[in-house]
Amino acid sequence: MSNYKTGLEFAKKQDQLDELSHYREQFHIPKDKNGNNWLYFTGNSLGLQPKTTQTYLQQELDDWANFGVEGHFEAKNPWMPYHEFLTGSMAKIVGAKPIEVVIMNTLTTNLHLLMISFYRPTKTKYKIVIESDAFPSDKYAVESQLNFHGFDANEGLILWKPREGEDLLQMKDLETILEEQGDEIALLLIGGVNYYTGQYLDIKQIATLGHAKECMVGIDLAHGVGNIQPNLHDSDVDFAAWCTYKYLNSGPGSLGGLFVHEKHAHNKGLKRFSGWWNHNKETRFNMRQPFDVMAGAEGWQLSNPPILSMAAIKASLDMFNEVGMDTLRKKSKKLTGYFDFLINALENDSIKIITPSNPEERGCQLSIQVQHADKSLHKKLTEAHIITDWREPNVIRVAPVPFYNTFQDVYRMVEILSLILSEGKETQS
Ligand SMILES: Cc1ncc(COP(=O)(O)O)c(C=O)c1O
Repeated sequence: MSNYKTGLEFAKKQDQLDELSHYREQFHIPKDKNGNNWLYFTGNSLGLQPKTTQTYLQQELDDWANFGVEGHFEAKNPWMPYHEFLTGSMAKIVGAKPIEVVIMNTLTTNLHLLMISFYRPTKTKYKIVIESDAFPSDKYAVESQLNFHGFDANEGLILWKPREGEDLLQMKDLETILEEQGDEIALLLIGGVNYYTGQYLDIKQIATLGHAKECMVGIDLAHGVGNIQPNLHDSDVDFAAWCTYKYLNSGPGSLGGLFVHEKHAHNKGLKRFSGWWNHNKETRFNMRQPFDVMAGAEGWQLSNPPILSMAAIKASLDMFNEVGMDTLRKKSKKLTGYFDFLINALENDSIKIITPSNPEERGCQLSIQVQHADKSLHKKLTEAHIITDWREPNVIRVAPVPFYNTFQDVYRMVEILSLILSEGKETQS
């Protein structure tokens, strides 16, 4: 959409036309002391709480109170197969087959469990490629995997960097890395949507390039899940992992998700760690059976899952299922496009959007680079109850989320941002 307009009337009109506008009422929006809604733009960090979450949690608390251990079978949603109730919706959101997806553990833990299987270095083919600005936890995880296998992390880690003076990654540079060092590279672990710049990379192309050099390819979808449509199955990546507390609104520290491509689903020979929960569920309770790994993503589980956290995930996934990613993504492109338009219309050279301008190369987040790393801008926004986040060295990340942000939220945010920027100019002159 290119016919955006700057006035408030345009924002009001878009909110009236928005077929998802009523969903905002289904979330708890944090408020200031006077009862006014905050302008919340940090769904990329912690998504807001759906009002139904409490009901879903209460159901499990009641069933625990009423049935004790029998809740595993007697609960309205029996706990024994509870994780299976999440699989279908989760698979749809990431474009996978149900056999490829499971909800379990947390993101960094899952990355390690996946690397146990898919990072199998040899003396000559052992290096790992990540983005130079990968999320620190991912960098620490791969460094520790290199160390664990007896390699020097400084030597074994290859960083895919933006070119000098640029902020974004170019696929051509990954191609060059693979052409020059592909024979030594065992694994590519790349953030599908970069946490810092908001750049959405072409996952399928990354998989094609990596596989051409016989590398395993894994994707961290923390900033992609519920935001963009990664089509994991078709992309042919070997594995992926994500958290559910950002765009999937499942609550602080909630469980993560894991994808293992169907082509690996029945490979019992893959090295992995095990516990009773990746043992064949038909014989799990016979207790004295030799280990028999389950097919598909469930074959990476270890423990029986925390039902309360899963109940919160179910509340959220049921909403995603109702709306569908196509509809959410459509609104998201329009809303973020509007935000991009308004920021550019300010024509203020103390800020610059570093996120790609092409809607196909970004999700909902825009990363605004602030000249001279002036953190006071972020502080003033927060004082005005505009919740964004600051990421060192110089970026304010702002994520208008299609489920609960409105065009008027975006309008007001930019209006206040403009005021703060013009106050700054006055005090400088
Ligand atoms: C890209 C990325 N990787 C890893 C993590 C760490 O997640 P967890 O604490 O759930 O392991 C995060 C958390 O925000 C993240 O954004």
